[in-house]
Amino acid sequence: MGSFVWHPYTQMKDWPKFDVISKGKGMWLYDIHGNAMMDGVASMWCNVWGHSNKELTDSMIKQTRKLQHSSLFNLTNNRAEELAEKLVKLAPGMHRVFYSDDGSTAMEISAKMALQYWHNIGEKKKTKFVSLENGYHGDTAGTMSLGYVPSFFSKFKPMLFPVLRMPSPNGYRLPKGYSFDEYQEFCLDKIEQTLAKNDNIAAFVMESGAQIAGGVVIYPKGFQKKIGKMCKKYNVYSY
Ligand SMILES: Cc1ncc(COP(=O)(O)O)c(C=O)c1O
Repeated sequence: MGSFVWHPYTQMKDWPKFDVISKGKGMWLYDIHGNAMMDGVASMWCNVWGHSNKELTDSMIKQTRKLQHSSLFNLTNNRAEELAEKLVKLAPGMHRVFYSDDGSTAMEISAKMALQYWHNIGEKKKTKFVSLENGYHGDTAGTMSLGYVPSFFSKFKPMLFPVLRMPSPNGYRLPKGYSFDEYQEFCLDKIEQTLAKNDNIAAFVMESGAQIAGGVVIYPKGFQKKIGKMCKKYNVYSY
């Protein structure tokens, strides 16, 4: 079937036709001919409870019959409060929840929070961001700036803001002459030097646990914690 949809990250010339999915159940997707396909990527990791999960669909139907949406500008609602309370209890050290629409917007909001924080406490020169090479944080202008994967984003460079980019320990692409441990140390040293010598850094941004879109590269054990400690030491917000 041809498509009127503009498909993301898809060279449409290479796809004269697409399989058409008509339903999903658990980990399976079914096309219009009834063929089952295992959804091994959980629809790009946004369907972690499986398709047509009964508990979720029942509660969505129940809630939409009662209240579909009410703004959080100077108002609140029971459901927003209940979920926020649950999330805060699951996340030690957190006190409030800011609701966002998707991953990219969440990252944009975090960047704005960092800038607003420093501004509000009078540290107005802390406006720069540091991130890791090959990180990915989304497809909006701010997140393409923070997580710059060259093959995805080079065409959009004119709309991006400058970010200090640090090397990240990718065991599959080690520079000549380095063992993995040595390269990890090199990356950490470089990050520490950057944080130590620049007093205008608002935040350090990295994916949690691994760089997925940038090649499924898992961070070495303790790497993220070490960066978190450096951020505390040099008074930099980290997320
Ligand atoms: C680490 C990370 N951050 C941000 C995003 C962007 O999320 P979204 O596609 O919901 O905007 C993704 C998406 O895959 C991601 O993997």
